[in-house]
Amino acid sequence: MSSKNPQRYNVTTALPYANGPVHIGHLAGVYVPADIYVRYLRAKEKDVVFIGGSDEHGVPITISAKNEGKTPQQIVDRYHSMIKDSFEELGISFDIYSRTSSQLHHKTASDFFKKLYENNKLIEKTEDQYYDQEANQFLADRYLLGTCPQCGYEKAYGDQCESCGSSLSADELINPVSKLSGNKPVKKSTKHWYLPLDQYEGWLRKWILEEHKTDWKSNVYGQCKSWLDNGLNPRAVTRDLSWGVKVPLEEAKDKVLYVWFDAPIGYISATRELTNDWEKYWKDDDTKLVHFIGKDNIVFHCIIFPSMLKADGDYILPDNVPANEFLNLEGDKISTSRNWAVWLHEYLQDFHGKQDVLRYVLTANAPETKDNDFTWKDFQARNNNELVAIFGNFVNRALVLTKKYYEQQVPTPDTLTESDQEILQQISTYPQSTGEKIERYRLREAQQEMMKLARLGNKYLADNEPWKLIKTDEQRVKSIIYVALQIAAQLAYVCEPFLPFTARKLKDMMNLADRNWDALTTQKLIDPGHKINKATHLFNPIEDHEIQAQYDKLAISKAKNEEAEQNLEPLKEPVTYEDFSKLDLRVATILEAEKVPKTGKLLKITLDTGIDKRTVVAGIAKDHKPEDLIGQKVTIVANLQPRKLKGIESQGMILMANNPDGTLHFVSPEEDSKNGAQVN
Ligand code: 2FM
Ligand code: ZN
Repeated sequence: MSSKNPQRYNVTTALPYANGPVHIGHLAGVYVPADIYVRYLRAKEKDVVFIGGSDEHGVPITISAKNEGKTPQQIVDRYHSMIKDSFEELGISFDIYSRTSSQLHHKTASDFFKKLYENNKLIEKTEDQYYDQEANQFLADRYLLGTCPQCGYEKAYGDQCESCGSSLSADELINPVSKLSGNKPVKKSTKHWYLPLDQYEGWLRKWILEEHKTDWKSNVYGQCKSWLDNGLNPRAVTRDLSWGVKVPLEEAKDKVLYVWFDAPIGYISATRELTNDWEKYWKDDDTKLVHFIGKDNIVFHCIIFPSMLKADGDYILPDNVPANEFLNLEGDKISTSRNWAVWLHEYLQDFHGKQDVLRYVLTANAPETKDNDFTWKDFQARNNNELVAIFGNFVNRALVLTKKYYEQQVPTPDTLTESDQEILQQISTYPQSTGEKIERYRLREAQQEMMKLARLGNKYLADNEPWKLIKTDEQRVKSIIYVALQIAAQLAYVCEPFLPFTARKLKDMMNLADRNWDALTTQKLIDPGHKINKATHLFNPIEDHEIQAQYDKLAISKAKNEEAEQNLEPLKEPVTYEDFSKLDLRVATILEAEKVPKTGKLLKITLDTGIDKRTVVAGIAKDHKPEDLIGQKVTIVANLQPRKLKGIESQGMILMANNPDGTLHFVSPEEDSKNGAQVN
């Protein structure tokens, strides 16, 4: 339930995996919005803890370590400090930035598990799981690759398909292979502990679908609803791996907690590390808990972690989980492996002192309701046309004129015109209108509101032209500068959550003391006679060559990616003729084709094989429209064992050429080949 006036706030941000640096996608989705929210709360003098940290477990970290010939600890040490430092430099004002390899976290997570275990909140199951006999290892999560049953993507992981975003279990993968050896895995029996999510379904339905119907974002609510409508299953919370938090049971010494079980507990460990008084932030109903995350983390924060907290029984639940969509870069998905990203540590080097510009642009383009795009041209335009030309220009004019005409003192106004009074009235409303938007997690609109104030100031000076009037009406100019300085002061306060470096500079230039946000609802923030300091520029134009340098960087990534895409797959091991002849390849014709609902890639295709009419499901919708396929001659594997894809039985496979650029082309027999003719 949304507590309208909580005593305190606990604001968490998704813990980034410490196996790579953070990029603008992470920032726009999670850290910048959370920081705006927290800075606003602090300005209101609320009791708030702002929690962050690195997620240092999970298979990808072990895989990176193996690839680089390092230990997992070495990998996380490197990235943890790098991420921590760059967040700090960007002004992400965590109260603590912790890490899940810490001892305190291991103890907290281990105790959390133990309590659930002792209170019979977990179920034990022994079952067969995939195992790599060559590597002598169970193939948990990302150690297993195969075809996604939802969309047909061939490199889906044992826990998730990165193409369609479906969360998967290892047994759902079609044709699984081991990532370690490339071999087909065998099944081997193993015991694990499960959180019986099915038992929480009724409670979750009520809590989310009824109680949070109106206050959670529709993307978050929608994803939860779809999970709940599909039915929840028990979920394993342990893994046969060596890197992670050890399972605190004698019989499970070689097992660790599933990374998604331990990571959110990391929020609790970090709070414990921050303060002895941590329990009030986690166990008191008067605390408002808010998780800032990206959309790929919704199920974990809205369904799984709350069920863990509920199972424990002592914890509060999140009041809101304002998850954002994704940010693209220059029209293309941000990708670490393709180096298609703007990395925070590189930005900070390339654009020294311009932290607020990045914060501003990312908020202006925040992917709050849909995926959004970052482009360097837009970055430059927003800096030059908005921050420099509006915000900076206004403040600079107001302060420079104060220096020039009044020896750096706020002038005593003459009679204020009606329009002056109206403006003073208006500026007093900005803290509230901006704050309301922040409280509803509409940070993009909140920042626009703040910029409206800057625009108001800029227009006020441009309309009144004090630099001309000074020759004819000195008295009037006093009023104009007085009003302009009130606007500038309000701007200094209201911009702080968004542009903290600028706010600091501007407050210093104007000699402004810190003020409670709620005390900004006034028409006079700065008194006549108040002395201000020397003005310097708040923002500087970004030149074309600086932007070009970024495009050049991206061009290098693009060229490398294209080169990699040209690389053909290496030849597979030879097979005997006997092996080959087991395949029954035939000519067939497509009779009908239609999209499989709720999948991006799958088509349901009816074939005439000369022998029968049958259905196959093929993951080719990306490159082929159903209506274009009728009459298409194809080659099929006719004796492949049927398998179910999205509930439809697929009776065979259409052969496709997988081009290096990812497109799929038919392996078409000549037009006059007969349906049913054998291909050999
Ligand atoms: O998706 C991720 O990057 C995860 N490391 C987020 C974890 S959030 C929390 F649960 F710790
Ligand atoms: Zn998929």
